[in-house]
Amino acid sequence: MAAKLWPCKPRTKAKLEIVSGYLAAWFSILAAKGFQHAIYIDGFCGPGKYSTGEEGSPVIAARHANSTAQKYPNFKATLIFIDEDPKALEHLATIDAIKKQHPNIVIEIKNGKFSDEIDGILDYLKKNPNSPTFSFVDPFGFGQSPFEKLKLLMHNEHSELFINFWCGYMNRFKEHEDEDVTQKIKEMMGSDNLDAFINAADPIGALCKGFEANLKTLGKYTLKFAMRDEGNIRDNAFFFCGRQPRGFEKIKEAMWRIDPEHGNAFSAHTELKAQTSGQVSLFDKQPHTGGLSSLLINKFSHQSNVSVETIFKWVIEETDSFLPTHARAELERLYEKGSIAYHDPQSTGRKRRANDWPKRLLITFK
Ligand SMILES: C[S@@+](CC[C@H](N)C(=O)[O-])C[C@H]1O[C@@H](n2cnc3c(N)ncnc32)[C@H](O)[C@@H]1O
Repeated sequence: MAAKLWPCKPRTKAKLEIVSGYLAAWFSILAAKGFQHAIYIDGFCGPGKYSTGEEGSPVIAARHANSTAQKYPNFKATLIFIDEDPKALEHLATIDAIKKQHPNIVIEIKNGKFSDEIDGILDYLKKNPNSPTFSFVDPFGFGQSPFEKLKLLMHNEHSELFINFWCGYMNRFKEHEDEDVTQKIKEMMGSDNLDAFINAADPIGALCKGFEANLKTLGKYTLKFAMRDEGNIRDNAFFFCGRQPRGFEKIKEAMWRIDPEHGNAFSAHTELKAQTSGQVSLFDKQPHTGGLSSLLINKFSHQSNVSVETIFKWVIEETDSFLPTHARAELERLYEKGSIAYHDPQSTGRKRRANDWPKRLLITFK
């Protein structure tokens, strides 16, 4: 029997674009920085192709790893693909982009359950203690990726997780009479007690907050990207967890490309409605960055000579989703309103162009 392929629906497309955007940056930044080996783990890799023709996450990862290896001769990567379905893996192994590899790219395909494969993977991570590791955890539902197992994949300062967290789905089962089901939710949430989620005014929000709080114990930089399905239901969300500001910046950028208004959500419902009614599609939208002005004012109020470099660093590392490009727009707005002044320590006498905020400029917040 051939492998079962399924269609790439709008939410899946959005997910794959985020993963692809991030991995393109991840592999090449690591190689450019001089790392000689990186590890990509796809814990629920699937067959590598959708019935509608799109490539799946393992193929996307292989392509980015290959093109980085072609550009940087000293760069090596190991890609570990896991799936419990042998047919899916058989299919994956027939795909050209998986069969034909640059000699510096090693692909290991493992047939088994994600949580059972972790021990073997840990041995491998121990043998490669300095290799940056990105783990993509993308199950169909909940229960196969307990928090205790995810923890183990954050083995060094350059480890990152990207997790498909089925908050809406889990919410529907949180009071299930079968204890095996609720036990799985407890393991996902890293908690023996689900009362806080059961009694919350917004249980889906509470599950997400609880999960993100757990991730924060593993890495300073966590980020949520919420998904709504075709019926506008909050079914799942993607969570990033990492320890490097550069990674945080790059995942934000990948998310903004999918949600040009807020950088943190995708709704298959809204997208389908826009497409069928001929309204503006997601690619014609503008970022809503107004909230960043208040954040900047709150943070830097009455401070003098704050460099634009300091401001950009703070925006990347300490705000939920904003980036320097948004800070530029908001600095311009604050300047026009007279709320800030600037000084150029290396002034050439030439007038500053609108939205041009070189890192050396010093800002005084009034
Ligand atoms: C959502 S699909 C993965 C899609 C893929 N990551 C992509 O983006 O193209 C989930 C996959 O997980 C596999 N799976 C389900 N339970 C699993 C488990 N416990 N361990 C490993 N794989 C599992 C399924 O066979 C399926 O291929």
